Amino acid sequence: MLRLSALIAALALLPFMAPARAQTPLEAGARIYAKKCSECHGARLRNPGTSFDLKKLKADERARFEKSVLDGKGQMPPWRGALSEEQIGQLWAYVREYAYE
Ligand code: HEC
Repeated sequence: MLRLSALIAALALLPFMAPARAQTPLEAGARIYAKKCSECHGARLRNPGTSFDLKKLKADERARFEKSVLDGKGQMPPWRGALSEEQIGQLWAYVREYAYE
């Protein structure tokens, strides 16, 4: 009986013993995208045809990405001050993961 209760106590503690897993940049980027960008750029980067297809950005276009995001472009508001450098890097990781090439 004693052993059973010890086992139950150990099992109850398990969720708290699992090491906290840090979010990867990709996961963080996906979250920020869903909150701030998907409304215009489409859920999961699926371009609704009314803005810019972010999957078209190429690997060497990070500077263009950052500039457009920070300064805004056309109908898109600037995100300077609203997003940190780190968050923009996470968004870039997300965009690159699903890019066409
Ligand atoms: C209110 C709608 C809206 C939101 C929200 C929005 N965008 Fe945009 N975005 C646009 C539109 C419209 C364009 C096309 C601008 C143009 O070329 O006139 C665009 C263009 C872009 C471009 C390409 C500009 C280029 O270099 O040609 C990037 C990169 C971009 N958006 C990233 C983002 C990211 C990242 C987010 C989320 C933080 C975001 N956008 C949120 C509407 C939006």
